[in-house]
Amino acid sequence: MNRLEGKSALITGAARGIGKGFAEAYVRNGATVAIADINLGAAEQAAAEIGDGAYALELDVTRQSSIDEAMASVIARTGKLDILINNAALFDAAETVGITRDSFDKLYAVNVAGTLFTMQAAAVQMIKQGHGGKIINMASQAGRRGESLVLVYCSTKAAVISMTQSAGLNLIKHGINVNAIAPGVVDGEHWQHVDSMFAALEGKAPGQKKAEVEAGVPAGRFAVPADLTGMAVFLASSDSDYIVSQTYNVDGGQWMS
Ligand SMILES: NC(=O)c1ccc[n+]([C@@H]2O[C@H](COP(=O)([O-])OP(=O)(O)OC[C@H]3O[C@@H](n4cnc5c(N)ncnc54)[C@H](O)[C@@H]3O)[C@@H](O)[C@H]2O)c1
Repeated sequence: MNRLEGKSALITGAARGIGKGFAEAYVRNGATVAIADINLGAAEQAAAEIGDGAYALELDVTRQSSIDEAMASVIARTGKLDILINNAALFDAAETVGITRDSFDKLYAVNVAGTLFTMQAAAVQMIKQGHGGKIINMASQAGRRGESLVLVYCSTKAAVISMTQSAGLNLIKHGINVNAIAPGVVDGEHWQHVDSMFAALEGKAPGQKKAEVEAGVPAGRFAVPADLTGMAVFLASSDSDYIVSQTYNVDGGQWMS
């Protein structure tokens, strides 16, 4: 069933990983999808792999002019914007006493300000169109509780959960549903990077952190992006019209709330 037939979607950070998986699923369900990423070459490659229905856009969510240009490109191409997934994010890990201002500023610029101002630009467009829309923010189990070495990233994801609540309450009067997905651990390039950071910080062998984390997942394995696409399609479809400001855990049983 094509649950997103005729819809126009923009997914930030969709050149790889979870965002790319969402783009594939949306195109399969009938949507036209902007793969919007700071890495244009990778976005073009992802769009080419996905095929008709996907197109690449250069987007740096830390720059307002880039957000505005990306929105304008979506409108020029498809005439409207129905769905936004705020998926782009950065990760970092450090001892509390080792956190740098540079790391803090970078993560907050992408994960918090980038999410907020891309959401705002999408909402402005959706309000202008006058027939509602769907905004999905990518939170994380990391936003549900702190982690010893992950203070900055965890706090950005807690902010995403909070922004989803406030924006959802504020925008539902325009028929715009704002909700979030909180994954647990999802395999991909991101986790290779996380594993190598923990190897350095905790003196672990390469792959050791991943194996330890995987052993703690009630479902018994890391997720793959396809494990999250059902929720992403649902939250972009009319089936979720009465769902407002929620964050859904899709994490193999890691967190209950
Ligand atoms: N992988 C996991 O285990 C996991 C778990 C919980 C939540 N998440 C969240 O899911 C989302 C996707 O995760 P992933 O693992 O696929 O990430 P990833 O690191 O594989 O991909 C992130 C993408 O964002 C892009 N990006 C970075 N900075 C950008 C910017 N300024 N503007 C636009 N694009 C930018 C990158 O080029 C990359 O393509 C993120 O919000 C992440 O926090 C991931």
